[in-house]
Amino acid sequence: MTSVGGGEDIELLRRILARERAAREQAEALLESKSRDLFATLNQLQSAVIDLEAARRRAEHHSAAKGLFLADLSHELRTPLNAIIGYAEMIAEDSHGDQVPKDARRIVVAGHGLLALINNVLDYSKAESGKLELSLQPVEVPAVIEESIAIAVPMVRERRSKTRAEVEPGLTAVISDPVRLRQVLLNLLSNSAKYTVDGLITVKASRLGSLDYRIQVVDTGRGMDRSQLDRLFEPFQPVCREEGMRFASTGLGMSITRRIVLMLGGKIDVQSAVGQGTTVTVDLPVAGPSHEEAS
Ligand SMILES: Nc1ncnc2c1ncn2[C@@H]1O[C@H](COP(=O)(O)OP(=O)(O)O)[C@@H](O)[C@H]1O
Ligand SMILES: [Mg+2]
Repeated sequence: MTSVGGGEDIELLRRILARERAAREQAEALLESKSRDLFATLNQLQSAVIDLEAARRRAEHHSAAKGLFLADLSHELRTPLNAIIGYAEMIAEDSHGDQVPKDARRIVVAGHGLLALINNVLDYSKAESGKLELSLQPVEVPAVIEESIAIAVPMVRERRSKTRAEVEPGLTAVISDPVRLRQVLLNLLSNSAKYTVDGLITVKASRLGSLDYRIQVVDTGRGMDRSQLDRLFEPFQPVCREEGMRFASTGLGMSITRRIVLMLGGKIDVQSAVGQGTTVTVDLPVAGPSHEEAS
């Protein structure tokens, strides 16, 4: 049964339905365009991640290649240099007269300086590429300290300074690498020797609780200010360029020292004040480094 009024109702319903359909279609279109946008963004993000990963791999590869190149180069340089030093030593010993042996000795001294520098670059690049190997064994810390001081004494005397050791007895049989520990001490002692005139350089060693021991190299030298301290562990950054030239320094010593200390499972801290001196504190574990630290 239909009526006039019923026809209007149907028309109204149809219009409502049509409006709803239009609204739904609009919503669907919006949803589709939004998901397309989202999908595009996701794609962009994915390709950015892939690019980044590739860049990271390239950087890693470059840095490893650079490390290897430096290590190889340093190694290759050492061989002829050792020959030069050897022959200059022979000339210095054999020749008669005044000038020739003097000049030959200059070659020997310069040669040793260059050799030390090359060794530093070699150590640094090895440490950077994780190739510095440790040989862990029981170590008598007082003996290592004594040996290191004995090696540093001539440098210290050159600037009319003195050395002193304050070593707690009983620091024996810690686990460490004696060669690397001595290298740390020699680096610190040679710095103190270089920058201390008419002063005192003290090496202290003591137990630090049951697990650690502490070695300190304290000097009464020229010290460093805040900005010098901040750059101290950066490679190839002799803190003071002018003196760097005079002492043929590369600014690698402290970077290598810090690397070795970390590998030995320890930490290093430097306190310094201009004109008052410098204290370097190295804390190390009695039982040696954990596996991850040593690698
Ligand atoms: N004990 C110290 N007293 C004063 N200055 C120091 C001392 N140790 C290091 N420095 C400064 O820090 C710089 C970096 O030291 P280092 O890394 O050992 O490099 P290098 O000895 O080859 O210059 C040195 O050039 C020096 O200026
Ligand atoms: Mg140094």
